[in-house]
Amino acid sequence: MTTYKIALIPGDGIGKEVIPAGRQVLESLSAADPEISFSFESFPWGGDYYRAHGAMMPADGLEALRGKDAILFGSAGDPDIPDHITLWGLRLKICQGLDQYANVRPTRILPGIDAPLKRCRPEDLNWVIVRENSEGEYSGAGGRVHQGLPMEAATDLSMMTRAGVERIQRYAFGLAQSRPRKHLTVVTKSNAQRHAMVMWDEVAREVAQEFPEVTWDKEMVDAATARMVNHPATLDTIVATNLHADILSDLAAALAGSLGIGPTANINPERATPSMFEPIHGSAFDIMGKGIANPIGTFWTAVMLLEHLGEIEAARRVMAAIERVTANPALHTRDLGGTATTAQVTAAVCAQVASTRSCLTPA
Ligand code: IPM
Ligand code: MG
Repeated sequence: MTTYKIALIPGDGIGKEVIPAGRQVLESLSAADPEISFSFESFPWGGDYYRAHGAMMPADGLEALRGKDAILFGSAGDPDIPDHITLWGLRLKICQGLDQYANVRPTRILPGIDAPLKRCRPEDLNWVIVRENSEGEYSGAGGRVHQGLPMEAATDLSMMTRAGVERIQRYAFGLAQSRPRKHLTVVTKSNAQRHAMVMWDEVAREVAQEFPEVTWDKEMVDAATARMVNHPATLDTIVATNLHADILSDLAAALAGSLGIGPTANINPERATPSMFEPIHGSAFDIMGKGIANPIGTFWTAVMLLEHLGEIEAARRVMAAIERVTANPALHTRDLGGTATTAQVTAAVCAQVASTRSCLTPA
């Protein structure tokens, strides 16, 4: 039996509701499968911690995470604390500190979900966006001068290193190769951004040589948004810079029916540090504390966590449970047009996890 050490960081807003729900699903998995167990440790970091301690997480927080097999993260964001403090003080601190340089965002239209594109069949939209997660527009380089004076100036410098671009391109080509379509779209903006994005394109051409089985194309980021809407079936694996992929992944999630469903993995492919798994939706203060947050994003995130741990059958089992539940409109939360609560959806997925084993193990 394997016991995985999982750090839970609920964070802020609905993170505090969906992460306990995710834990319940993982517990129902280990109750049903004697081969897998989890040892959870919860870290109360985020906005409340900031109010008490003046920091989103303790100075030695990263050290506490290093010994874990994976991290399940809710969200960071607080109405009373500036967004750049909550982001840089917690999520980016962990992603950059643990060098989780590949942010992976799969998107599919799950059964039962009414997606907005009327001409798009569910099989037409099956994408994985690979987001550069350590530098680029989120490098943090830049500054403000003459603050408060009429001549005030500010810069946010997008920093791209050849090593950073190479490793994310290599990861994306490798991921594309592992998927049936073996196709990668490299998103760029090298027509207007004439230094770093030109290097980005050059590196893509070089790395492509290592992956002769993968076909690839290049798309400007603005044209990529139109292609996602008009020709979704022409896309499969997509790699983009930190900011470009941030924007494209929200569009992808909306096209798949709801931001409440999408999962994310912040991966350190070398496994030198634990990777971190989080729903895409954020803290959603407008609905926090009401018990109506959609936990499906966290459950799909837990599937990615299990895949990363190499627990492929368990991952399939949880995904099958999720899809049975989304197929039933009576179990849709408000973001999907339904009235189900977080607790009802969680109980339904746990029940499916407990009963699906026989469907997955061939006779
Ligand atoms: C995401 C989010 C974050 C980001 C926000 C909360 C800063 O939008 O994970 O996509 O931009 O990285
Ligand atoms: Mg985003």
